[in-house]
Amino acid sequence: MLEHLSEQPKDKILSLSEAYREDPRTTKVDLGVGVYKDASGHTPVMRAVKAAEQRLVEQQDTKAYTGLAGDPQFSNVMIKLVLGDAVPRDRVAAVATPGGTGAIRQGLELIKLAAPDATIWYSDPTWPNHPSIINYLGMKSKTYRYFDANTGNVNYVGMLTDLGAVMPGDVVLLHGCCHNPTGANLTMPQWKGVIELLQQKSAVPFIDIAYQGFGDGLEKDGAGTQAVAAAFDNVLIAASCSKNFGIYRERTGILMAVAKDSDECKIAQQNMAFLNRQNFSFPPDHGARVVTTILTDPELRADWQAELEEVRLGMLDLRAQLADELRKRSNSDRFDFLAEHRGMFSRLGTTPDKVETLRRDHGIYMVGDSRMNIAGLNADTVPVLAQAIIDAGI
Ligand code: LMR
Repeated sequence: MLEHLSEQPKDKILSLSEAYREDPRTTKVDLGVGVYKDASGHTPVMRAVKAAEQRLVEQQDTKAYTGLAGDPQFSNVMIKLVLGDAVPRDRVAAVATPGGTGAIRQGLELIKLAAPDATIWYSDPTWPNHPSIINYLGMKSKTYRYFDANTGNVNYVGMLTDLGAVMPGDVVLLHGCCHNPTGANLTMPQWKGVIELLQQKSAVPFIDIAYQGFGDGLEKDGAGTQAVAAAFDNVLIAASCSKNFGIYRERTGILMAVAKDSDECKIAQQNMAFLNRQNFSFPPDHGARVVTTILTDPELRADWQAELEEVRLGMLDLRAQLADELRKRSNSDRFDFLAEHRGMFSRLGTTPDKVETLRRDHGIYMVGDSRMNIAGLNADTVPVLAQAIIDAGI
């Protein structure tokens, strides 16, 4: 049997990490995988996470199974965090999933059950695992324009033009905030324009929100998702706790489905639990319980928010420093967009050749589409990157 296997395409982001690890140069800079790093290049356990884990060690008295949907309290706190009061609780079905990727996968499987012929529209570009999973599941897909490489901004006109071809019942995948890989995001008026168009088209929005709190703050980062959730009968939302709680390896995510009423919500809930059972049975619990502990304890919550805010402001500062260095070295404002972008990533907007030059000649690792993880920088490496960008003729 196994002789029939052929090699699968390598994940571009994860294989970059491998190449970085193998590079012996001590001056190398890792701007690849989307993991937060502090100025010394370390990915710390957040203070509130440590405290919640300590509490769990002391107080948890069983490791017996949770429900197929995970702990209901986790769903409650996450729905509140992501959706605020945008939708009545009895219209939101939710299941815990292994990370945000698990939520995307389960969301797509739910679409397969409910609307197997629906076309999934995703932004060009998007996180490469979106098309990878969609294709693996054999689902139909189309892309819509999103990024304007000349301005470094959202190509809003192109986006609306392409989404004009959406058919009733099609699913449109949107990034809730901190667009991955570009860092360019919709403004609130633009969100409203997208909502109006998708309403006219009777489309179903599917929001991937993996970086809430990394852009303009927890509340503002949820605003687009909340506006969408409030405007449609049906919306799917895949949320990740990997980044904003820094619990990457715990695999903590959630799939939410906004239903038109509580009856529809019950059947969605039952289907989502069924899908969990088919794919992995019970979702991971440790990270979810840590998140619930933090979000339900005022002190831990305040400390988590304070640390998340430090992380966010640190990344904004690095953005400002980089744009500044590039302005000085290029005698132009053509890199100013880097300071306007939000979240962990920015797309520099250059060719794979130049990305390769940066890697070969300067030991600077970014994804081939020129996506940089801003958190991979520090005050010492910002000028190094700026000079390398100039030297490479970007
Ligand atoms: C990324 O985009 O780098 C992260 O979401 C990590 C991943 O799984 O690709």
